[in-house]
Amino acid sequence: MERTLIIAKPDAIQRGLVGEIVKRFEQKGLKLIGLKMIQLDDVKLDGHYAEHIDKPFYADLAEYMKSSPVVVMAWEGYECINSVRIIVGSTNPRQADAGTIRGDFAIGQGRNLVHASDGKESGEREVAHFFGADELMTYDKSEYMHVYNQDER
Ligand code: RTP
Ligand code: MG
Repeated sequence: MERTLIIAKPDAIQRGLVGEIVKRFEQKGLKLIGLKMIQLDDVKLDGHYAEHIDKPFYADLAEYMKSSPVVVMAWEGYECINSVRIIVGSTNPRQADAGTIRGDFAIGQGRNLVHASDGKESGEREVAHFFGADELMTYDKSEYMHVYNQDER
């Protein structure tokens, strides 16, 4: 099982799209294991986006990410990193496929509604960056036998 961190960014909060975003992952069959609303600060954000700190767009990205609270979520599923990136769509929403979150609801590259982890290792690291062990739920999802083959559960 892989874990991915999803952030519903300030544009998702302001535009009332949090429910729509949660729905996309729920209807896929993924398991929600953590969810909370937080206000990002520099320490939390710089830790999360360490790979982007030196890039020219970072100052704008950081300012925007702190402009209102965000909703952070941890989702779990078999090979879910890749599935979730497909559901989210390309970074530039103008090139994102219709049917993806970014393709359906976004236009600006810096207003692309969601963050999603880009690898198995970053998924684990990012979930741990935002959630304490006591905030991550362990439970059986009763529909798993109808969502996965036996060897994928
Ligand atoms: P994310 O990390 O947020 O899931 O998005 P991503 O993997 O699709 O894109 P990434 O390359 O990791 O970039 C992180 C976020 O920075 C903003 N960005 N702006 N040239 C630009 O103006 C630019 N490039 C990236 C986007 O908000 C992107 O999601
Ligand atoms: Mg990224």
